Amino acid sequence: MDTAGKVIKCKAAVAWEPNKPLVIEDIEVAPPQANEVRIKIVATGVCHTDLYHLFEGMHKDGFPAVLGHEGAGIVESVGPGVSEFQPGDRVIPLFISQCRECRFCKSPKTNQCEKGWAADHYDVMALADSRFTCKGKKVLQFMGTSTFSEYTVMNQIAVAKIDPAAPLDKVCLLGCGVCTGFGAAVNTAKVEPGSTCAVFGLGAVGLAAVMGCKDAGAKRIIAVDINSEKAEKAKAFGATDFVNPKDHNKPINQVLVEMTNGGVDYSLECVGKVEVMRTALESCMEAWGVSVIVGWTDMHDIAIRPGHLICGRTWKGSMFGGFKSKDGVAQMVKAYMDKKLMVDEFITHNMTLDQINNAIDLMKDCKCIRTVMSVSPQ
Ligand SMILES: NC(=O)c1ccc[n+]([C@@H]2O[C@H](COP(=O)([O-])OP(=O)(O)OC[C@H]3O[C@@H](n4cnc5c(N)ncnc54)[C@H](O)[C@@H]3O)[C@@H](O)[C@H]2O)c1
Ligand SMILES: [Zn+2]
Ligand SMILES: [Zn+2]
Repeated sequence: MDTAGKVIKCKAAVAWEPNKPLVIEDIEVAPPQANEVRIKIVATGVCHTDLYHLFEGMHKDGFPAVLGHEGAGIVESVGPGVSEFQPGDRVIPLFISQCRECRFCKSPKTNQCEKGWAADHYDVMALADSRFTCKGKKVLQFMGTSTFSEYTVMNQIAVAKIDPAAPLDKVCLLGCGVCTGFGAAVNTAKVEPGSTCAVFGLGAVGLAAVMGCKDAGAKRIIAVDINSEKAEKAKAFGATDFVNPKDHNKPINQVLVEMTNGGVDYSLECVGKVEVMRTALESCMEAWGVSVIVGWTDMHDIAIRPGHLICGRTWKGSMFGGFKSKDGVAQMVKAYMDKKLMVDEFITHNMTLDQINNAIDLMKDCKCIRTVMSVSPQ
């Protein structure tokens, strides 16, 4: 049946309010408007940022919403003015756009784009406008993407076309976690060969950061997590040491400084807790250490003694691993297809969209790395 130009009724997992299970609903997805594409989502990962919105950030204006921002799918139809995409293209929706025209896109110094949802709706973590309705109510598109839905509509500046041979149920993870961690090490920290690194938090983001440190030639990679079950996985991605802060009765930065004769060259915080961000900074070498904040929180301030920076450390943040989104995703899909990048190894569980609350519980209980949800048949 030709659906182009028509409203599509389909299933989506709707977050009606914070701190409540998602509800599988029939939603209406409007046809794409000018410069938009409508995408059939085939598969999606669940990332901690989805849980952050639901359980931690809980911004009252951010609901109801369809969460999910780590998906892959197939273009169903395109709106007027779209020349880059056509029905049948394999794509990854992007939570950071790349319009190629704004001053951010034109600068090599950033991967931000002035035209994305974050430009004017940052606090709510959603687009100002939405193509979704459910029971007569507008439902927000979380991070502009909403991959926990059989169909979504995106502006073409926030869609990456990928190799049609790439398995969508694997490369969906390049829509967030794997690119975020890998790029934070390679693009943001700019880890140098022979260096010593520490990665805090060993979810998909942290494990991808470990992989990035290894790829950049780090000689020692210390993986840190309060869950010792993560040790083995971290070693499979390239960690040389594992430290569980719970096994020590002194501050973990002190432990790392002692292990490394003065601190690591690079540390990456992949947890999203301000106290860990400070610890990560204080774990790096005072004269030249670089610490990158990757974990997401917008609820608390971070604090540090100025002297800890004045002596020579650098504190940076990294969004989506510093990758210019369209270019970076296509490049990372190619690296995966060329067998130069591990992706399958992040997937610990496979489920279907109706099991979304089980997948969320698994992540909440720290029992998974990534669950990939099968959303629509290809
Ligand atoms: N900057 C970005 O662009 C971006 C993109 C994606 C995700 N994120 C953020 O990155 C973070 C990680 O995401 P994820 O999907 O890998 O999450 P996850 O929940 O799978 O992993 C988090 C890990 O941190 C560990 N942890 C918790 N407290 C700790 C502590 N005090 N010390 C050490 N380890 C601790 C947990 O045991 C777990 O293994 C989240 O905050 C997420 O919102 C940021
Ligand atoms: Zn994410
Ligand atoms: Zn731009």
